[in-house]
Amino acid sequence: MPLFKKVLYSTDFSPLAEVALEYVKKLKEAGEEEVVVVHVVDDLSVELPEGTDLIKEKEVYKILPEVDQEYLLDLVERLNSIKELLEKENLKVKTYLKYGNIPKQIVSVADEEKVNLIVMGAHGKGLLTELLLGSVSTDVIREAKCPVLIVKRREE
Ligand SMILES: Nc1ncnc2c1ncn2[C@@H]1O[C@H](COP(=O)(O)OP(=O)(O)OP(=O)(O)O)[C@@H](O)[C@H]1O
Ligand SMILES: [Mg+2]
Repeated sequence: MPLFKKVLYSTDFSPLAEVALEYVKKLKEAGEEEVVVVHVVDDLSVELPEGTDLIKEKEVYKILPEVDQEYLLDLVERLNSIKELLEKENLKVKTYLKYGNIPKQIVSVADEEKVNLIVMGAHGKGLLTELLLGSVSTDVIREAKCPVLIVKRREE
């Protein structure tokens, strides 16, 4: 069985997460067949239960203010365009939009989906880029049971 058959790609839609997506595409050469794309939201104006699935549990939208609904619909669209892009590469793709603690939810989807590898950026949208790793990547490395591929910078 290929080592990296099923890969989780975690994105905050930052430039470095986009670079990480290039690696997700290239991993096909290492036997990758399926990609699970994950984005986690922790900043809605209403508290939701930890781990709420914002793609499957559509009924929660009704309790959210319109700004949140629009924000979430935009995120779903962004996830869908990544899905289409990867499907063009003949990969099988699943998307998750989760609510809750960001690293905790990434690791929990990785466990549930039994992925062989997590791919993510060293940094994201945070501003403390002088640090080697952002807080999300640090915690995912700490908690994940599978290998984690950290993409550090755009190749020159
Ligand atoms: N909300 C999120 N959902 C999914 N993946 C995320 C999310 N936030 C960050 N990531 C992933 O983690 C990588 C590292 O981002 P991280 O948030 O750790 O760095 P940062 O934003 O620079 O720092 P910090 O958030 O600690 O201020 C990103 O490139 C992306 O792959
Ligand atoms: Mg961040």
